Amino acid sequence: MPPRVLWGRVRSGLIGRRLVRPMLRVLVLHGPNLNLLGSREESVYGTATLSEIDASLAKLGGELGVELEIRQSNHEGELVTWIQDARNRCQGIIINPAAYTHTSVAVRDALSAVNVPAIEVHLSNIHRREEFRRHSYVSGVTLGQISGFGPTGYLLALRGLCEYLSSQGLKPAASGVGSGRGDGTRSH
Ligand code: DQA
Repeated sequence: MPPRVLWGRVRSGLIGRRLVRPMLRVLVLHGPNLNLLGSREESVYGTATLSEIDASLAKLGGELGVELEIRQSNHEGELVTWIQDARNRCQGIIINPAAYTHTSVAVRDALSAVNVPAIEVHLSNIHRREEFRRHSYVSGVTLGQISGFGPTGYLLALRGLCEYLSSQGLKPAASGVGSGRGDGTRSH
């Protein structure tokens, strides 16, 4: 399905004039086996389903005035293609590469190539688990990693990404970042 493009309107610095600017768009990528959340190793990953995680992300995205494009794949190449497609189209990426975290030079290279700020998320604390999970190929090319906070990690990542983009002069359309309003309203 083609991405839904929403537009927000904000006041310009000129009295009585208004600028129209596109909403920030963030790509959220879930890697392999995350479609099984809710029934997969509940003691490690919890009971929230991927749909529930996506719904809470969408709600926060609405509050912050950020358009989210959320995708899940079990295929490395598909993730690579979606990362490439984010170039010139998305202002940020939130990615849980799942098992590809520990194996994929291709996912790392794609993130590095597109030059879109990315945050790596893991539900579990990968540094407290098996030795092979402690190394991430993607960490070296992301803004940062959030690991061990369960589904909340995605929400922390979205807030952190918005704060970062805001610091770079890319303000979300709504006032949730920086102004403290955060009630999900948007001016049109
Ligand atoms: C994971 C951690 C990875 O080691 C694992 O392969 C996953 C999920 C996490 O979210 O905790 O599939 O990325």
